[in-house]
Amino acid sequence: MKLVIAIIRPEKVSEVLVALYRAEVRGMTLTPVQGHGAESEQVETYRGTRVKMELHDKVRLEIGVSDHFVEPTVKAILAAAKTGEIGDGKIFVLPVENVYRIRTGERDQEAVTPVAATASDFE
Ligand SMILES: Nc1ncnc2c1ncn2[C@@H]1O[C@H](COP(=O)(O)OP(=O)(O)OP(=O)(O)O)[C@@H](O)[C@H]1O
Ligand SMILES: [Mg+2]
Repeated sequence: MKLVIAIIRPEKVSEVLVALYRAEVRGMTLTPVQGHGAESEQVETYRGTRVKMELHDKVRLEIGVSDHFVEPTVKAILAAAKTGEIGDGKIFVLPVENVYRIRTGERDQEAVTPVAATASDFE
């Protein structure tokens, strides 16, 4: 299992979510963040204060996946989040030791895979 963390442009979120849905990727966490990329530092004066690093609004996506879902997940994000301009973001893939689904107590492979919806889900 892996945790795919993607830092993307806020305006690309909808496209990325559609691409992930099409890749059958379901569970995810989305957080607004601010960040700084690999751009070289320029010391500027901003309202009387010397600022070294400009921070940009980004969105952080966290997606826990089983190993065979890593490639489709990364491909979906790469394609949907790209503009080709600097600041498109980054994708990190981290190893995951365990995953637990709290409701059922399921663990790892069973817990990270989406549960097929059943009629009882809607009762
Ligand atoms: N090494 C990193 N570690 C953690 N977060 C990062 C790292 N690099 C980039 N980020 C996050 O990703 C966001 C977008 O980064 P960005 O796309 O500018 O990366 P870059 O390496 O500078 O590539 P580019 O040349 O396309 O701008 C940053 O604002 C930051 O939130
Ligand atoms: Mg950059």
